Amino acid sequence: SLYPALAVLAAYLLGSLAFAVLVSKAMGLADPRTFGSKNPGATNVLRSGSKPAAVVTLLLDAMKGFVPVLLVKLFGDRHGLHEGTMAMVGLAAFLGHLYPVFFRFQGGKGVATFLGVVFGIDWMLGVATGLTWLIIAFFFRYSSLASLVSAVFAPVYYLMGDRLAWYAERPVAVALFAMALLLAWRHRENIQRLLEGKESRLGAKKAG
Ligand code: G3P
Repeated sequence: SLYPALAVLAAYLLGSLAFAVLVSKAMGLADPRTFGSKNPGATNVLRSGSKPAAVVTLLLDAMKGFVPVLLVKLFGDRHGLHEGTMAMVGLAAFLGHLYPVFFRFQGGKGVATFLGVVFGIDWMLGVATGLTWLIIAFFFRYSSLASLVSAVFAPVYYLMGDRLAWYAERPVAVALFAMALLLAWRHRENIQRLLEGKESRLGAKKAG
């Protein structure tokens, strides 16, 4: 059937909508690719000084991952789509965000979209991963560090979770690991800045 390929393509195209750029433009703010970390993501939109714009960016970028995964989960069976397709669709949305066809393949770091995918896979996995982000961000005040730690833990939670352990699906686990690796790769400059003590903290307007 063509359905899996079409679902993956649709998820990639949706993932390619760089909402940091689109929301900033719609709200009359500067293009996030021109200041701060230059990253088109919610964290950098926050550096423009607009919390609402950052929250809308976060939610829309997360929806790009959440909606395709949830649709496959809810309606996939009817069309012969299963966990393998769910994993591929999540990965496709994530890759769309990192390498967007509409923005010369210059995308973001994938944190919000990853969280959306994770919530789509299982809401408890989403809560665990989201709480990990919040706890690290609260104590250390680095968005990037919180993102890196939660990305490492998401696949671990997936494989360890009580509710999930006995139906953990290999394609989903592989997709989570692949996304965590790509997310870390996209944060390589953040990692360098963290090690040098030069990373900009949450709440600081000017990026390091
Ligand atoms: O949203 C990605 C976050 O983990 C880091 O963003 O702008 O500080 O590089 P940024």
